[in-house]
Amino acid sequence: MTSTQAEIDVSYSVSNDFFKLWLDENMHYTCAVYERPDQSLEEAQENKARVLYDFAELSADKTVLDIGCGWGSMLDYCVRRGVKRAEGVTLSTAQAEWCFARKLPRTQIHICDYRDWKPAEKYGGLVSIEMIDHLCSPAQAREGKAIDIYRQYFNKLAEWVEPGAHFGFQAILTNRIPRKRQDLLDLQFTADVIFPGGRNPRVEELVAAVNPNWEIRELHMRREDYGRTTGEWLRRMRQHEAHIRQTWGDALFSDYERYLDTCVRGFAAHWSGDVQMKLRRI
Ligand SMILES: C[S@@+](CC[C@H](N)C(=O)[O-])C[C@H]1O[C@@H](n2cnc3c(N)ncnc32)[C@H](O)[C@@H]1O
Repeated sequence: MTSTQAEIDVSYSVSNDFFKLWLDENMHYTCAVYERPDQSLEEAQENKARVLYDFAELSADKTVLDIGCGWGSMLDYCVRRGVKRAEGVTLSTAQAEWCFARKLPRTQIHICDYRDWKPAEKYGGLVSIEMIDHLCSPAQAREGKAIDIYRQYFNKLAEWVEPGAHFGFQAILTNRIPRKRQDLLDLQFTADVIFPGGRNPRVEELVAAVNPNWEIRELHMRREDYGRTTGEWLRRMRQHEAHIRQTWGDALFSDYERYLDTCVRGFAAHWSGDVQMKLRRI
């Protein structure tokens, strides 16, 4: 099973105003792509969107679906750069409200579990950014079900496009296990309190799960980029410490500080990573 609607609301419906304080202005809540040392978070998030648009081989005459569309940042990029029509699905009601308020042209947002989504017609391309991290619980992974669950996702998405269509995919990854007890507790805290019900896949599980319907055309590892992205989120959040404590309470600030600090250390120490894949429907 995926993270439930209630678990998703824990992760994404804290308050749109809270996330607005420390995400980039377009509200990407995923790893950015830094192409030069001097780039801002805003520029790096545009780079990420450009990479995935290009991976999906989108163009002005194609339709696109963003599976797990967050606050609509990738949809915004797609309609700015050029697509015939854009659709997004998300489980978060707060994110969907933000998406509706954006009034993006040629765009429809649906509050829906992707497994229940019934497309009216096939899409010209797909994007999905760090949504797969909600599909398999830690308990299911321990039971050996992870690859099957990820494969169900890739197989379902394959039904929504014609052979030859492309998919710009991105996921947070699990890699090495920390040795120190406090580091393990910090990772456990992040999983239990900030992202309940979720679990980051291992890259080898994804490589297995895209079969038999998708061919991997390109694969980029983005571990350092995510370290820099989460470091920038932490820096920006700390700048608003007094306001956050006053508006949402001390616990929220300290929980998010602990989670983001754990992310920064986790990417540096190879506990976590991030991958972008260009996939082609066989
Ligand atoms: C980490 S956020 C990423 C949001 C966005 N892609 C971005 O780049 O900012 C994960 C997103 O996946 C969505 N999601 C998780 N499980 C889902 C499911 N079963 N069906 C649809 N959306 C889901 C959440 O609602 C959230 O919008």
